Amino acid sequence: MHPIATLIWALAPLATATLTFQVQRASNPSADQTDAYGRIEAAMRAAVDRYNRLAPHANKALTIQYVPSVPTADGNFNGNIRFGSNRSYMTERTALHEIAHTLGVGQTRAFDDKCASGNWPTALPLLRSWDGQGAVINCGGGHFWPYGLNYENEFSQANADRHCLLVDAMLVDGLAG
Ligand SMILES: *[C@@H]1O[C@H](CO)[C@@H](O)[C@H](O)[C@H]1NC(C)=O
Repeated sequence: MHPIATLIWALAPLATATLTFQVQRASNPSADQTDAYGRIEAAMRAAVDRYNRLAPHANKALTIQYVPSVPTADGNFNGNIRFGSNRSYMTERTALHEIAHTLGVGQTRAFDDKCASGNWPTALPLLRSWDGQGAVINCGGGHFWPYGLNYENEFSQANADRHCLLVDAMLVDGLAG
C-alpha cells in the first residue's frame, strides 16, 4: 500500500464516533474490589459494545469507578459512572442506563427543553415506528421512558437495542446541547 494510503487507513477509526471506558482500580484491591471490578468490567464491556454497534453519534471517554457507598449507580455528563456495592446493579442494563446519562439524559438543558416541548424530530418518529403513532417520549426525574431501561425488568435484547437506537436519535436531535 502507498504510505499515505496506509496512514489514512490507520487513522480512519479515529473519525468514527466511539465510546471508550476505563475502570479505575485500586493498586492493591481487596477481594470485594476485585469481584466488583470484574462484574463492572463485564457490564460496561457489553453496554459499550452495544452502543458502539448501534449508536454512531455516541462519542465519549468514560471513567468508571466502584464506590461502595453509592446506593445503586449513577452517571454524569462529564463521563463519570459510579457503581455502588449492590451486585444487582452491576449489569448491562444498568451500564446502558448510566451511559445514557453521560450522553446527556437528565443532565443537559437540551434534554429538559426537548422533554418539555416534545421536540424530538428524529427520536419520536423512530419510537412511533416501533410502538405506533400514539407513542410519546415521557420524561421525569431526569429519566425517559419507554426504552430508558430504568428498571432491571425492562431489559431484553430487543429493548436494549432500541435503547441505544433511541439515544442515538436523541443525540441527532441535539441531546448533548
Ligand atoms: C440490592 O438491590 C436489589 C434490587 O433493587 C434489592 O432487592 C436488594 O435489597 C439490594 N440489596 C441490598 C443489600 O441493599
